[in-house]
Parts: sequence; structure tokens; C-alpha cells
Amino acid sequence: MPASPTPASPAIHRTVDDLRAALAAWRREGLRIALVPTMGALHEGHLDLVRAARERADRVVVSIFVNPTQFGPKEDFGSYPRTEASDVEKLAALGVEAIFAPNAAEMYPEGFATTISMVGPALGLETDFRPHFFTGVATVVGKLLIAVMPDIAVFGEKDYQQLMVVRRLARDLRLPTEIVGLPTVREADGLALSSRNAYLSAEERRLATTIARVMRETAEAIRAGGTVEPALAEGRAALDAAGFRVDYLVLRNAETLAELTDPANEPRRMLAAAWLGKTRLIDNIAV
Ligand code: PAF
Repeated sequence: MPASPTPASPAIHRTVDDLRAALAAWRREGLRIALVPTMGALHEGHLDLVRAARERADRVVVSIFVNPTQFGPKEDFGSYPRTEASDVEKLAALGVEAIFAPNAAEMYPEGFATTISMVGPALGLETDFRPHFFTGVATVVGKLLIAVMPDIAVFGEKDYQQLMVVRRLARDLRLPTEIVGLPTVREADGLALSSRNAYLSAEERRLATTIARVMRETAEAIRAGGTVEPALAEGRAALDAAGFRVDYLVLRNAETLAELTDPANEPRRMLAAAWLGKTRLIDNIAV
């Protein structure tokens, strides 16, 4: 069936019903639909996900929703950057057809009583420090996947544990969506792009690159045959010495995120979270 012409600027849908009406028309045309879930404040990392979605589908939906349920009471929900007008411009330039930008009442109507809580890859790491986080993420991503029912949904490896959680969620609920994970986009000095990098002072920004460098060096030491725990302890000490407060720097099974039982023969991922002043940075690399 011929594809309908691509609109010049994205339609902005505020409700699930409105979004579903647009999706239904595309589905009738047999078009392949991609979803890129975001919380807005779009940077090059997000745009990379959108470009990948663009290449893999006929129609791209980007959701912009700062999801309250994935923030703890003392976290940065109130101050999280909200930049819808410039986000829309960036998405228009990439030829995105639809933006889903609901308000909190649309996503969590009065009396909301349903959450998705997960174990498996959601256990440990982020959950040890942000116990509310993955219930919030799984619930909102579950809702977005059910609302859009895309052929593919694209996420960044920057939030590696989140990617594993979403893959498991889609598999466990037998959702008909392929979850695509894309490599982290980095600044020239190695810092992983994140909307929260905007919180860093100039001096913190200079230091922030240390996390990627320490992870690279620790990974090299392990690849070169170094023993895992002492190498990680050295990495943590290097981060402490540079002024970070480390939540974790660990090596895990890259697929299950479980602790390694046979380090030489399992796929391995190093994951880190550390505070620099009031900003919490996370990063991860394959080992
Ligand atoms: O990675 C994010 O930006 C968010 O956690 C997500 C996946 C959009 C859910 O709110």
C-alpha cells in the first residue's frame, strides 16, 4: 500500500485517545511504527535514537513525559529540565510525525491504582539507591507500549539496567514490540550525554569525564587478566580521589545483570553510578 505523505511538523497528541486515532490510520495503511520514549530535554543522544527509529520505521512517535513516579520524594522531579518548544523543533527537523506529550493526569488519572513492579534485572544496582525507580519506569513504559503498540521501541544503552528491564517487560508481557538498544553517545572527552549533565558546574563538568576514563582503565585491567574485585576497588578509589561519591562500580552479567559466577566465560558489563556534587552520573561499558 502506498505510504501517505510525511507531514512537515509533528502532530502533538496530549491524550492516548487522540494518539490512538492517528496510529489507527497508519496501521490501516500497513505502516511500520517506531516509538522513542523520552522525558524531553532532548540532546544528541536522544536524537541518535530518533534517527535510528527513522531508519527502521515508516512513522516515528516520540513521547515526552517527565514521569513523576520514577522520581523519589527528594529527587529532581521539580527541577528536571522541561524544554518542549525546542524539543519539538529538533524533532520536526528529523521528520518525526508524532509527539505524545501527555500531562500527569492523562497518564495517572485520579485514583490510579495499577503499577508494574519487576524483579530480575530490576533487582540491585539502581534499585539499591532509588527503590522507586524501576516500578515507575516499568509502569510508564508499559503504558506507553500499550498505548502505541509500536513495531519497535528504541532506548539508549546509557541507561543499561533500564534497557534490560524494558526488554524483560516486553518479553514477559508478550508485547509485540521489538526493543532496540543503541550505544551511548558521548562528548569528545568521553562523558556520556545526559539531560542531567546540565546540572554540572564548569569545574564538575571538567571532572565528570573521570567516570568514563576510570571505567575504561578498569575494563582494560580486567581484560588484561587482572582480578575483577581488586580492579574494581582501584576504580572506586580513583573516583573517590577525584571527588566523586560512588554508589556502585561493578561488573555484572551483561544479559541478566546478575553477579558473575564464571567471569571468564560470561558476557560482562561494567556499570557505575556516582555523585559529583549534587549531580548523579551513571555510565556503563562492555568488558
Ligand atoms: O530514559 C528515560 O528518559 C525514561 O526513563 C523513560 C524511558 C522515558 C521513562 O520515563
